[in-house]
Amino acid sequence: MRKVLFAALSGVILTASASFAGNGQAVFQKNGCTACHQAAVDTVGPSLKKIAAAYAGKEDELIAFLKGKHKAIVDPAKFAMMKSQLMKTSKLSDADLKALADYILSHK
Ligand code: HEC
Repeated sequence: MRKVLFAALSGVILTASASFAGNGQAVFQKNGCTACHQAAVDTVGPSLKKIAAAYAGKEDELIAFLKGKHKAIVDPAKFAMMKSQLMKTSKLSDADLKALADYILSHK
């Protein structure tokens, strides 16, 4: 009878690893953010470095912005260009948003 239990337990090998917490850089690239945002230089949009500086210690606010629930603080005059992107980012899962925010904030 113990054998049955052991057989059941040994079958529990977790296969969930690849999708764990997501990969912020992959989310960033997959959603076309690179078209307007470079790591260190301003192009169409502000550099990730500039965004990271503005949101330093404010990850919650960055995530809220990406959900369309927080006003722009980096370059509000150009927000119209960024606004349509929020349709995409507001549909991302919480895990992807967190990974995305972590990725952006890593550009210090
Ligand atoms: C069509 C060009 C364009 C694309 C594509 C784009 N952005 Fe932007 N983004 C901008 C511009 C312009 C600004 C500056 C306006 C502003 O600050 O909102 C900006 C600003 C931002 C900001 C700063 C917000 C703030 O508080 O001011 C974040 C964060 C951001 N973008 C993230 C992203 C992410 C993530 C993606 C990919 C889903 C993305 N952007 C795609 C043009 C773009």
